[in-house]
Amino acid sequence: MKAGIEGDIGKEILFYNTVNSTNTIAAELAERGAPEGLVVLADSQQKGRGRLGRTWLSPPGVNIYMSIILRPVLKPRDITLITLMAAISCTIALRRATGLKAEIKWPNDLMVSNKKIGGILTELKMSPERIIFAVTGIGINVNVDISEFADEVKEIATSVKNETGIPHSRTVLIREILDETDRWRRFLNNEEGRKRLLSEWQHLTSTLGKKVMVIVGKERFTGLAESIDDMGMLILRLSSGELKKISSGDLTILRG
Ligand code: BTN
Repeated sequence: MKAGIEGDIGKEILFYNTVNSTNTIAAELAERGAPEGLVVLADSQQKGRGRLGRTWLSPPGVNIYMSIILRPVLKPRDITLITLMAAISCTIALRRATGLKAEIKWPNDLMVSNKKIGGILTELKMSPERIIFAVTGIGINVNVDISEFADEVKEIATSVKNETGIPHSRTVLIREILDETDRWRRFLNNEEGRKRLLSEWQHLTSTLGKKVMVIVGKERFTGLAESIDDMGMLILRLSSGELKKISSGDLTILRG
């Protein structure tokens, strides 16, 4: 099925009942020259992928599984900014469409009441000089029943329905996400815009100012999440007082 909305992002939407992963389909289309803004949407995924090689649970009829092709004018060093941009767009869209106080946990977790409600997986093709295309994959738990989650997942994950007590329209939320992405992706392409993105991200995050633990491969760092730098890297103040910059990892907010 093909459908579209007004901005360049989502002008063309390809809808599938089921796919292995919307990110894989979008990457294949981008490889064959599909334009910025093409969206791949599926009702379910057989092999939904999360960050760090994890599986993304993708049952039918309830959630959002969507990938957007982007072609930003960016250097490979700036790739984290694409994910931060997508997190900003999804957080604003979630707030507007559901009234929930969605927040971002660095780098890309969408959180409500300290539980994960969605995530973003950005995959890229690049040359040494530039990003050729990016596929931003967005997964949001909309109407999935929390009781369907395994016990260990229930502790850390939630859905829009679980938080509001009522089912929500996936279409309304998708529309808001695409409108916001259409607005915020323009900020990726120049210095002033990138500053604006970083300041909006800081406004929407729940991570800064908190004591956190970050696992990076086999290493683990604990400290105060002080800020992010101009590439979106997390700046951590370790207990030794030393500053540590981290480009990606698994972050837990610690109490106290
Ligand atoms: C995360 O681990 O937080 C990222 C999850 C990203 C899931 C989305 S669902 C749509 C797209 N297709 C995938 O296979 N993954 C992303």
